[in-house]
Amino acid sequence: MDKVRFGGTDMDVFKIALGGYPFAGVNKAQGWDPYSPEGKKEAIATINAALDGGINYIDTAPGYGEGHSETLIGEVMRERRQSCYLATKCPWGGGAREVVQSLEASLKRLRCDYVDVLQLHGGRFSPEDQRHILEEGPLEGLREAKARGLARYVGVTVEEPWTAIPFVEAGAFDVIQICYNLIRQSAGQHLLDRCAESGIAVCAMRPLTSGIFQRELEHLAPGWLENGEAFRVCMAFILSDSRVHMANVGMRWRREVEANIEFARRFEPAYDIASTPRLTQHIYESDDRRKLK
Ligand SMILES: NC(=O)c1ccc[n+]([C@@H]2O[C@H](COP(=O)([O-])OP(=O)(O)OC[C@H]3O[C@@H](n4cnc5c(N)ncnc54)[C@H](OP(=O)(O)O)[C@@H]3O)[C@@H](O)[C@H]2O)c1
Repeated sequence: MDKVRFGGTDMDVFKIALGGYPFAGVNKAQGWDPYSPEGKKEAIATINAALDGGINYIDTAPGYGEGHSETLIGEVMRERRQSCYLATKCPWGGGAREVVQSLEASLKRLRCDYVDVLQLHGGRFSPEDQRHILEEGPLEGLREAKARGLARYVGVTVEEPWTAIPFVEAGAFDVIQICYNLIRQSAGQHLLDRCAESGIAVCAMRPLTSGIFQRELEHLAPGWLENGEAFRVCMAFILSDSRVHMANVGMRWRREVEANIEFARRFEPAYDIASTPRLTQHIYESDDRRKLK
């Protein structure tokens, strides 16, 4: 019961996914180095802990450490490919051939025959970028990967949500991974509604703000960082929007994996963020409706 159908795909996914960036990003201040022998072991233990705990979707990219994240995930996939859905990405600046070649290299690192989702790795997309993707090869490459059984579904990842609207309108993508969190809510004003209307699977990237909100709070309101309150409000926000199927969370340590799985399992939304009015006038009107009942 703690899984949801991922848009129009055949995948039933746990509410949080394991984001692959930490398996390529070094953070020495926090004692995290996935390139050292101990760091590799720790990263692999984190991936195994996620699968053991019920996370069943892993998102990575060839761009994370020039394949290092995929290689570490591949170590686990050797034994456990059937335990999860696997999503990776590819560049979109070239043509169809580059898309397929990138995927073939990813599959070698991931030690498997196919991925469940192949996403163009974005990005903010200008009108020229959008036209290039739709008409000059990248979309054709995704379709070829699908036709050859190398990717079951195709998608795109997006930093500036409004720049993905033409992709939703084109009806060409099964999955959209968007930047959406407590402090970056623009997707909530337009793209999420469009995805919901079209039945597109939505995965939120940077759901805990990639640590940006927490960094700002250190200076603006340090008290909010005490007792994990900032973490909980970010997590509660993303799990409370009915238009988002899954939050793709970056986790380094097993203890984070365990805490996040526990949080997601217990959390019951009391409010749908999708229903938040987005205009001042509508806030006033809904105040009146609530208070003058
Ligand atoms: N363009 C793209 O396609 C794109 C761009 C960005 C991200 N992504 C995807 O989205 C994933 C997630 O993004 P992200 O890693 O940047 O950001 P995120 O998930 O918003 O934040 C990750 C940070 O949250 C903290 N965190 C996790 N669990 C926590 C807990 N239980 N308590 C307190 N803090 C906790 C961790 O901080 P500490 O470990 O430092 O304490 C971690 O570094 C990536 O791994 C990647 O797969 C895709």
